[in-house]
Amino acid sequence: MTRSTGNIDSAHSLLGRSGARLSLPEASAVAERLYHVRAMAFDLPSERDQNVLLESGSGERFVLKLANPAERREVLEAECAVMLHLEPTGLTPRLIHTVEGSAIGMHGPQFVRLISVLPGTTYGTARLHTNAVRRDLGRAVGRLGRALTSFDHPAFHRDFYWDLANAERVIGTYLPLVADAALAQRIAAFVAYHRAHVAPMLPDFRRGVIHGDANDYNVLIDEARQSVTGILDFGDMVYSHIVNDVAIAMAYVALSAADPLAAAAAVVAGHHETRPLTEPELQALFSLMCMRLCMSVCVAAKQTAERPGDDYLRISQGPLARTLPILAAIHPRFAHYTFRDACGLPPVPYAPRVTAWLAEQSGRFAPLIGRDLRTTPVAPIDLSAGSALVSSEPSENTPAELDRRIQRRLAERGATVGAGGYDEARLIYAWPSEPTGTEPRTIHIGLDLSLAPGSPLHAPLDGVVHGFENAAAHHDYGPVIVLRHRTEGPDSVEFYSLYGHLSCDSLEGLRVGQPIAKGAVFARVGSAPSNGDWWTHVHVQLVTDLLDVPCNVDGVVRASQRRVWKSLCPDPNLILGIRMEELPHQVPTSAIVAARHAHIGGNVRVSYGANPLNIVRGYKQYLYDDAAHRFIDAYNNVAHVGHCHPRVVRAVGDQLAVLNTNTRYLQEQLTAYAEQLTAMLPASLSVCYFTASGSEANELALRLARARTGARDVIVMDSAYHGHTTTLIDISPYKHAGPDGEGAPDWVHRSPLPDIYRARGAHADPGSWFASRVGEVIADLAAKGRRLSGYIAETCPSVGGQIMLPKGFLADVYARVRAAGGVCIADEIQTGFGRLGTHFWAFEAHDVTPDIVVLGKPIANGYPMGAVITTRAIAESFDNGMEFFSTFGGSTAACVAGRMTLQVTLDEELQRSALLVGERLLSGLKPLMGEFEIVGDVRGSGLFLGVELVRDRHTLEPAPDEATFVVDRMRQRGVLVGTDGPYHNVIKIRGPMPLSLADADQVVDTLTRALRELPGRR
Ligand SMILES: Cc1ncc(COP(=O)(O)O)c(C=O)c1O
Repeated sequence: MTRSTGNIDSAHSLLGRSGARLSLPEASAVAERLYHVRAMAFDLPSERDQNVLLESGSGERFVLKLANPAERREVLEAECAVMLHLEPTGLTPRLIHTVEGSAIGMHGPQFVRLISVLPGTTYGTARLHTNAVRRDLGRAVGRLGRALTSFDHPAFHRDFYWDLANAERVIGTYLPLVADAALAQRIAAFVAYHRAHVAPMLPDFRRGVIHGDANDYNVLIDEARQSVTGILDFGDMVYSHIVNDVAIAMAYVALSAADPLAAAAAVVAGHHETRPLTEPELQALFSLMCMRLCMSVCVAAKQTAERPGDDYLRISQGPLARTLPILAAIHPRFAHYTFRDACGLPPVPYAPRVTAWLAEQSGRFAPLIGRDLRTTPVAPIDLSAGSALVSSEPSENTPAELDRRIQRRLAERGATVGAGGYDEARLIYAWPSEPTGTEPRTIHIGLDLSLAPGSPLHAPLDGVVHGFENAAAHHDYGPVIVLRHRTEGPDSVEFYSLYGHLSCDSLEGLRVGQPIAKGAVFARVGSAPSNGDWWTHVHVQLVTDLLDVPCNVDGVVRASQRRVWKSLCPDPNLILGIRMEELPHQVPTSAIVAARHAHIGGNVRVSYGANPLNIVRGYKQYLYDDAAHRFIDAYNNVAHVGHCHPRVVRAVGDQLAVLNTNTRYLQEQLTAYAEQLTAMLPASLSVCYFTASGSEANELALRLARARTGARDVIVMDSAYHGHTTTLIDISPYKHAGPDGEGAPDWVHRSPLPDIYRARGAHADPGSWFASRVGEVIADLAAKGRRLSGYIAETCPSVGGQIMLPKGFLADVYARVRAAGGVCIADEIQTGFGRLGTHFWAFEAHDVTPDIVVLGKPIANGYPMGAVITTRAIAESFDNGMEFFSTFGGSTAACVAGRMTLQVTLDEELQRSALLVGERLLSGLKPLMGEFEIVGDVRGSGLFLGVELVRDRHTLEPAPDEATFVVDRMRQRGVLVGTDGPYHNVIKIRGPMPLSLADADQVVDTLTRALRELPGRR
């Protein structure tokens, strides 16, 4: 039954509810008598009919529909007929006949029907709606529609209130009752558009019997698969325009979507796949879907007038009040183009004609700058998100700075003209008026020519002045002119060329309608600040449809609407003729994926599976993809002081420009760094070795231990990971006990991972219990006559699942190991440099001093580097005649990178910041254990946190798929985290140290939203 919004019942029921409702036992008795179905009965919410859910002993489920006594038999018969007709689609409930073979049974004077229950959740109650399910809804409506083409019934040829064909009439009647004046005005505007542009087309539209009410509570979906399982309710069937079915589905889908247009377009796409829409239908769809929503508002207003004070009505109007202004801001032609794009058609129908004509004219345009760009040397000017011409620091992208960098690039190329920017994703735009949370506009849809200020611009082809203005807002066009042109020949169409960032005098004496002859100088290039405060250039844009904007057409658009905008604004190079090799070139993500398949080993994994990220820039705690979309990096601990920290970048760059050599020469950088680093460690750890990676450092640590003890055997922790080399795989159960692992060699002995969450409080003193297990391994070794070289463990096991070691454990273990003659190696590769917030090194939290500390990852903010720091005694044992040399370890630039990373960590008090931000994260994450059954544990310290997901709080069955789902959904909302742990069910939060309190709130909010969307969550 039609709902005036997603969740209120019919505003206009032809029949009010009347007649006594049956008790549940009575309903059971009716089912048994009429259908021989013995079942328990449960009430279902319903308004017009009484619906009762029946569950038989064998688990079969039915709905018994007891018709409203005022219902006409003819209508019910029609509904039964349509159900029988649609049964082969598999999308609609099965009608069960009475034992006497009737579609309609009788209970006294009351009509009764029995139908099967379809699987799935209603779209309206489901928590996750992706475009996949929206597309499938379009398909399902299309399939139903196709089946209905061979169906008709006189009862459906009716003047039905909810028929979308009557929208104007219904809205006209009840609009005066809409109390919200602004909303009423909007609705009036929708109606006016509909009357002028859509109503005249309707008489020619295809007609037939339609379902008429694919609202979100009449559509069933499989939430996990994001597919449609059924369509219910045949109470609103009517002979009408067949396009109305998809329009109604789109309307309700749009209501629950953050981007209503994209959501509606997904429905159109699916529908077009199964039942192609005609061009006039595609043109009308947006208005029809808006009219359906307007009808809902008006009918609800009528209900409110009848039932004042009904809170339910008020609440249910929320989505409409939110969505209609969004839809009102969309130009209906833009929506039309978006729907065409969704159907795989050229978005602007005549754009191919414009581009084909322009291509034909190639070589005949007058040169815009007075010199032929096909022969003038042009330098590509790449201002994309990944270009070094742009600074990550907005204050460094002033017009003067950009001009300086561009001039340098031109000089390098021996060019006086720079060009680029069409379809380029840029970071340099920020519009304060744009609402936060919406997709930022990043795609530059014009082409920029960097020229000397005052350079004359010649009209490339005949035209007239269509519009001009001084768009003086900061970072707008400044002076801008739009010329109107026309293609020649049959099917001639108008199009436009736009020129922005001009000199102010370009507008003097100009008048709309003024002819501008091909080749005539009509404007000059402006400069900052009057050109919108940009670097010196002219922005050239072609436009096939101005969408009723007089002049100031968007030059930068959203990446999600890229294809539509490229059709609205084709490549300006069609009239400029710059050689392709002189324009910047971005490698498409698809090409990178293909090259990766061709040339990179398959097990060099990429995150986010089939939908990997193409990251082109990092700054502070943020990463940016090739669409210039920002992500909070809550995962990567290597960029310790923030991605591309300017002090580190400058220090390393400066050093690379002077010297980068190895440890065979005296270099102050090496010793100064060693002094600084050891000053941060306990006094006994005084000798450093530098390497090029964490793996190399752990390898060296093992050699040091062997040199010191003369023994080889080591004890490791289950699930540990210490590096990728052959020896380190041997000591890493995470690898050697994982897929294709060969197990531990005889010199490697495993001890249990001290995971107190999974130990479930079984031990009163887990620290000493787990330490005793290490003791047992030591005893076992001794019993076998083997000697212990060392014990190696991460101080907070990371791939083990972000584990915090129990109190007392490490001190106990170290004592046992030392008693057995071994040395204690702390792998601090993940946890060093203040990450835990409470301590600079994780081992400090356990009141122990290791014999060897291994550092890596964050040590040099991404410059390849590892370090081993040990005692003088161990170093002396190792200094046994064989030289130690690592070509890149301790190189000049690496030491500079390490020094500056350490200095910034201290200067910016990042340990303290990690503590505060970590506390904020924990205070947001811990309550999730109360809200979501699946969140079994939240643990960690500072910016080293884990959220463990389990399917069952008693068995602790891991929830790896759910964890992956959450990580994927968080990425969709701009937050990067990862999964880890032996069961891949721990969400790992561990980003760069500058993560802020606001970032922490966003991480928590995004994680919470993702958990809410988990299909079938408890
Ligand atoms: C704890 C630990 N040790 C060692 C390594 C190896 O470091 P690298 O990848 O720099 O060789 C890693 C890397 O992930 C690690 O997490």
